[in-house]
Amino acid sequence: MMETLEKQLRERAAAHGQEHIFRFWEMLSETARQQFLNQIADVDFSLMDRLVNTWVYSEPPEEHFKEIVPVPVIPPVQTGSADAADALHAGEKALRDGRVAAFVVAGGQGTRLGFEGPKGSYPIGPVSGHSLFQYQAEKIRKLQERYGAVMPWYIMVSDSNHDATQSFFLHHGCWGLNREDIFFLRQQMVPCVDRQGKLILEAPGRLATSPNGHGGSIQALVECGALEDAQRRGVDLLCYYQVDNWAAKIADPYFIGYHVLRNASMSSKCHRRNDLREAVGVHCLCDGTYRVIEYSELDLYPQLLQEDDAGEPVFYAGNPAIHILSVPFIQALYQHFESFPWHKAFKKIPFVDAEGRLCRPETPNGYKFETFIFDALRFTKHSPVALEIGRAGEYTPIKQFDGVNSVVTARAAMSEYWAPWFEAAGYAVPRDGNGQCAVPLEVSPAFALCRDEFVEKIRGATLRLDNGIAIHADGSWTPGTPGN
Ligand code: UTP
Repeated sequence: MMETLEKQLRERAAAHGQEHIFRFWEMLSETARQQFLNQIADVDFSLMDRLVNTWVYSEPPEEHFKEIVPVPVIPPVQTGSADAADALHAGEKALRDGRVAAFVVAGGQGTRLGFEGPKGSYPIGPVSGHSLFQYQAEKIRKLQERYGAVMPWYIMVSDSNHDATQSFFLHHGCWGLNREDIFFLRQQMVPCVDRQGKLILEAPGRLATSPNGHGGSIQALVECGALEDAQRRGVDLLCYYQVDNWAAKIADPYFIGYHVLRNASMSSKCHRRNDLREAVGVHCLCDGTYRVIEYSELDLYPQLLQEDDAGEPVFYAGNPAIHILSVPFIQALYQHFESFPWHKAFKKIPFVDAEGRLCRPETPNGYKFETFIFDALRFTKHSPVALEIGRAGEYTPIKQFDGVNSVVTARAAMSEYWAPWFEAAGYAVPRDGNGQCAVPLEVSPAFALCRDEFVEKIRGATLRLDNGIAIHADGSWTPGTPGN
């Protein structure tokens, strides 16, 4: 049985110029051989040929557009405006009707953060030590209570963190959410290749692979049965966010409302770019087609670097990676997934030398391939739905410990976001000479999702904020540690 599979896979690998992957076969144990064959059986060699031909042996042709214009943006929600009231009404109805699910992509490798364990298990709460996943779970619990409807939670993971993520959830009792309403879907892995387009071995019996990017969620949703699960539940709107965005609102009724009222298939939030070179994608219309141009490609399209008279980017709509996807749109994308664009990244990929010893290169030596969810926007047919948001309380991505988009900046931003809540409740927030919040503040989303709710519920408590504070789900609190 194993011999037949081995023969078939050797032939298949050879037909695609990849027979070298068997070069350590003789030294593998029976179990290692079986595992290796299972891994090879999952490789889509035709796709690898296509990726290598397009990205390694050549470069894809540059795209040229006759006209690139900024995407029309819905201005930030002005509570009280008629437009916003309609959106709120429609969004809340969809939530009450149980049409909405949360969808987080958490399959990345989190290399820059360098944290042992899934990124979502990072103890982001500076006082409580609560994880990103706990914050998200508490938001979902609260939204379920508020709208009296189950909001299933779809969580995309990859081979690199599937088991650890599931165990983390179970260990924490899913933070009070119903286990049946949580669905883990595993995205596909793609082999990495060297500069010659050859698959890389990271061990004598294992190919080096990486997750196929957040765009792989389209495939994973369908192939892992999540989309079917959603349909069975009457859910047709998936609120997409990334696991490392601590502030994500998860299911914002206004955003859902705009999506529903405009009958959209995929909607986006966008934020003002801090400057022309900020490392975020830019929302625009290229010959009428909705695109997000990656920041690494900005120089290909100089118009994206224009400033207005006030020195602000003309193309101001940056991409915080927050979307809503309608279920029929996901199905349609899946049916034509072969036309979904791929991207390559030149990276340091550990490999085995001629003796089978692991080597860690100091400079990039090979390519990883991935797909991006924002590329789905180019397949939308309706007029764009791009809702501008402020970053505070919506977008604090965590890519590394310190520096731009880091644990440190996210904690500062969240303390800054919550500070007015405490002030509105009558507390003096310690501030530094620049007026910045000087202590870490945290509010469990299960306690309050907005300032008014916080003020109402915290009445009567006697809090001490001098070293920071974490307010827990039940209203109890923990003081921060001096010096932190
Ligand atoms: P990033 O591109 O920031 O990658 O992913 P990352 O894995 O978090 O960090 P680095 O680049 O290795 O340092 C943005 C979001 O997309 C998810 C990540 O988990 C994160 O939530 N993602 C990324 C996936 O779910 N799958 C992927 O294949 C790639």
